[in-house]
Amino acid sequence: MDRAKRKLQHIEYALTIGQHRLHGFEDVTFVHNSLPNISTARIDLQTKIGELSLRSPIFINAMTGGGGAETTKINEQLAYVANEYGLAMAVGSQMVALKDEREQQSFTIIRQVNKHGIVFANLGSEATVDEAKRAIDMIEANALQIHLNVVQELVMPEGDRNFCGALSRIEQIVSAVDVPVIVKEVGFGMSKETARKLEDIGVCAVDVGGFGGTNFAQIENKRRENQLDYFNEWGITTTASIAEVASEVQRISIIGSGGVQHALDVAKCIALGASAVGMAGYMLRLLIEKGVDALMADINQLHEDLTVIMTALGTRTIFDLQKAPLVITGKTHHWLRERGIE
Ligand code: FNR
Repeated sequence: MDRAKRKLQHIEYALTIGQHRLHGFEDVTFVHNSLPNISTARIDLQTKIGELSLRSPIFINAMTGGGGAETTKINEQLAYVANEYGLAMAVGSQMVALKDEREQQSFTIIRQVNKHGIVFANLGSEATVDEAKRAIDMIEANALQIHLNVVQELVMPEGDRNFCGALSRIEQIVSAVDVPVIVKEVGFGMSKETARKLEDIGVCAVDVGGFGGTNFAQIENKRRENQLDYFNEWGITTTASIAEVASEVQRISIIGSGGVQHALDVAKCIALGASAVGMAGYMLRLLIEKGVDALMADINQLHEDLTVIMTALGTRTIFDLQKAPLVITGKTHHWLRERGIE
């Protein structure tokens, strides 16, 4: 099957399988603050990923591109929304457009619509330095995301089977490109050991892409006959992953993602250690099922709710929210204890 058709199937199956909210947010509770000493008017949602300044901690994570008119329209609408609300936005993997120039339009549209916003290019860890540079130039990207998706590839019938050399290819890209590099998972979470290796080679940020939201093992299993069911529950939950990565890295930013649907999920990601929070499947579903206006209303509500939550906690900035006290119970607590994190 060609790459473009696969992109359309990913969208279709992501929507039909949906998100099961197994990400561990229910294990995380804020400690209520009866004296927050703040007004909503003072809340500031600006944040940073490395040196990149963002107006909002919420961004639209990598989804699509390639696949013709349908994905071009989706990216055009997402870029419109990103522009309206000052959200950063990532495109889906650009490899399809590096292999076939006719597929570029579905990516370049986002820069046409959102001329001055923050956009992230996206490639897999098989990419070469030259491909990374071309992907960045294609959309005048402010940063490059490199996705790690080993389990997805293994379940994908036509996927990669050789994962040698990924870290050293990423290291070469980091030193050769002139934008920050973000390395992301796609819904299987990231361990502290992986994050440490990535910090050591100079990436700017890691996006944990935790388990519990969009499930690419299930999506790819739907595309094959002999199912690799054992991968359907494989991965580190979003909460456990952010907490364990936060316990390990010192110099790089953490991005929380994987099943984020509400402002309270966003706030919990940040309080666990994230500087920004990516949302993919949830935004795609809203856009496709309810349209652009509904997506815009929802993003407005997300910002309002986050402001209200930060007021209740007495945290004026995202940096303050990162230090808000919380209690971790249940599976997430158990996981962190087993992993030696208190
Ligand atoms: C994705 N995701 C993704 N990630 C990536 O780095 N490159 C890509 O091309 C894609 N493609 C893609 C297509 C579709 C339809 C979806 C829903 C998602 C993964 C995405 O960025 C994110 O890491 C996961 O979806 C987990 O986040 P959510 O969906 O649970 O918020």
